[in-house]
Amino acid sequence: MADKKIIAVVGATGAQGGGLARAILGDKGGGFTVRALTRDVASDKAKELAKRGAEVVAADVDDPESLKRAFKGAYGAFCVTFFWAHFSPEKELAEATAMAQAAKHAGVRHVIWSTFEDTRKWVPLSDNRMPTLMGKYKVPHFDSKGMANQVFTDLGLPVTFLLTSFYWENMIYFGMGPKKGPDGKLAITFPMGDKKLPGIASEDIGKCAYAIFKKGSEFIGKTVGIAGEHLTGAQMAAALAKALGREVRYNDVPPEVYRGFGFPGAEDLGNMFQFKRDFEKVFCGARNPEFARTLNPSLLTFERWLAQSKSRIPLE
Ligand SMILES: NC(=O)c1ccc[n+]([C@@H]2O[C@H](COP(=O)([O-])OP(=O)(O)OC[C@H]3O[C@@H](n4cnc5c(N)ncnc54)[C@H](OP(=O)(O)O)[C@@H]3O)[C@@H](O)[C@H]2O)c1
Repeated sequence: MADKKIIAVVGATGAQGGGLARAILGDKGGGFTVRALTRDVASDKAKELAKRGAEVVAADVDDPESLKRAFKGAYGAFCVTFFWAHFSPEKELAEATAMAQAAKHAGVRHVIWSTFEDTRKWVPLSDNRMPTLMGKYKVPHFDSKGMANQVFTDLGLPVTFLLTSFYWENMIYFGMGPKKGPDGKLAITFPMGDKKLPGIASEDIGKCAYAIFKKGSEFIGKTVGIAGEHLTGAQMAAALAKALGREVRYNDVPPEVYRGFGFPGAEDLGNMFQFKRDFEKVFCGARNPEFARTLNPSLLTFERWLAQSKSRIPLE
């Protein structure tokens, strides 16, 4: 135990960090142990991790000193932020900065920063194809993560930038699954035209991250993009129809219609999908499923994810 390398996992009770924690805990001979960061060490999820062998410690990404304590003595740190908890790109950048500084302070030897593209590199604020949001962003929850890359770089950290993909679990937890239209038929709605959306089972992000830690120095200083599969809306609808045994159609809407749906974050997500649609080659090109499968041989396709998860997709 004593000679095992500790990986401090931010968000260990959540999707990405949870996948990583379970991957490490499931590989007893792998040479790594989990230090799970949580705001509530007494929660059911935290207790479950402790039961499975994780060291569970209290930390809050909004409390830099708690991060420094939690990263102390760790070999690796998995860093992720929680944009949808507050919808603030400034706060997200501050949280990422606090994590980077804590990793520097602790002398962590490998950091994985779960990030996205700063979309303004492709769609400058002057580009009116999509509205500028909050005064200075195109896709706030992407742009702030992309901006934070520089913080990790400037601190000279041994960092791997991990570009993730759309979780297929959004169909379960984020209201993006099939819904009945006025005609009574099920449809999924995305403003993607006929372009492909890289998607992934969120658990696979953690499994890939674990493989990156295990590879040691190979991916330090590199950007690594992962997806389970790239699928058009029509292909996702066809896979859903097959899995559910019901007709499911793809409802392609213009991005401006999606931005107007009115739910919190609709404008941000409308711009995000438009970015993925308009820059399909760049976005898909940065997330190669074949490469992801070399990291994680059990990587799920959408069809295999559906076989495991279809009963959890709420259908009206
Ligand atoms: N949805 C998608 O398709 C998708 C795809 C790729 C990337 N992302 C990005 O993924 C990020 C979220 O990661 P996730 O999905 O793994 O999160 P998640 O499943 O929502 O998990 C959040 C976990 O983080 C912890 N947490 C929340 N606020 C915290 C804080 N202030 N300090 C410390 N821990 C905190 C919570 O744990 P405790 O309650 O135990 O503290 C919670 O269990 C977002 O930034 C999002 O943009 C999302």
